[in-house]
Amino acid sequence: MKKFLSLVLSIVMILGLVACGQKATTTTASADGTATKLVMCTNAEFPPYEFKDGGEFKGIDVECAKLIGQKIGAEVEILDIAFDSLIPTVMSGKADFAMAGMTVTEDRKENVDFSHTYQKAVQTIVVPSTSGIQSVDDMYGKKIGVQTGTTGDIYCSGDFGEESMMRYSKIVDGFQAMKTGKIDAIVVDDQVAKAIVEQDSSSFKILDTAYAEEEYAIAVKKGNSALLNKINAAIDEMKSNGELKKIVDKYIQ
Ligand code: ARG
Repeated sequence: MKKFLSLVLSIVMILGLVACGQKATTTTASADGTATKLVMCTNAEFPPYEFKDGGEFKGIDVECAKLIGQKIGAEVEILDIAFDSLIPTVMSGKADFAMAGMTVTEDRKENVDFSHTYQKAVQTIVVPSTSGIQSVDDMYGKKIGVQTGTTGDIYCSGDFGEESMMRYSKIVDGFQAMKTGKIDAIVVDDQVAKAIVEQDSSSFKILDTAYAEEEYAIAVKKGNSALLNKINAAIDEMKSNGELKKIVDKYIQ
C-alpha cells in the first residue's frame, strides 16, 4: 500500500512538473479573472509592420496582435529578437507566436504552423537613385543586401549565388551600406522599402519589377491548434468587420 501511494505521489509530481514546463510562457487565466499572457516574438526593425518609436513598439503587427489578444482574452507581451531567431523561439516554446511580417513558405511550414494570412506583400528591389540596374537580370554579379533569414535572403541566394549576398540583421544597415556604395541593390518587402525610401527619396529608387509575391501569417508552435484556432477566428473576424483594414490604413497610405 505504501509503495502504491508513493508511486501515485511520484506520478502526480511528474504530471505537475510537465504542466509547469508547458506553462513557461503562457499564464493561464486565474480565478480572479486575470488575463492570460501570450508572448509574441517579433523583429522590430521592419516599419510599418513593427518598429520602435521612443522605446514603444508600434506598427501594423503590433496593433493587430494586441487586438487579437483582446479577442482571445490575453495580454500580449512583445519579445524583440533577430528575425532568424523567431522560428526557433516559437519551436522552443519561449514565445507563443511569432508575428513579424512573416511570409508563409513551405520550408517554414515544416517547423511551425501558420495562421490564416492577413496581408499580401511583394519582394521588391531597391537601388541607388543613380543606379543602372533596371531589372532582375541586371542583378547578376552585383552585391545584394538582404535581412538575414528573410525570403529576400533565401530567394536571392538561390538566384544570384552566395558570393552576391550581403546580409544584415537590420535592413536599415543595408540601406546605409548602399548609400556609401558598398552594395548595389536591396531586396526587401514592398511596404518596408516604401517606408525607408520615403525618408531618403533622393538617395534610392524602388524598381517596378516584382521579384516575388507572398503572404504574411502568424506562426505558432507545431501542433498548438488550441492557440491557432483562436488566432484564426480573431483574424477572420478582423478581416470581415474591417478592423484589420482600419489598422493597415493607419500605417499605409
Ligand atoms: N516577409 C519576409 C520574410 O518573411 C521578411 C520579414 C522580415 N520581418 C521583420 N520583422 N524583420 O522572410
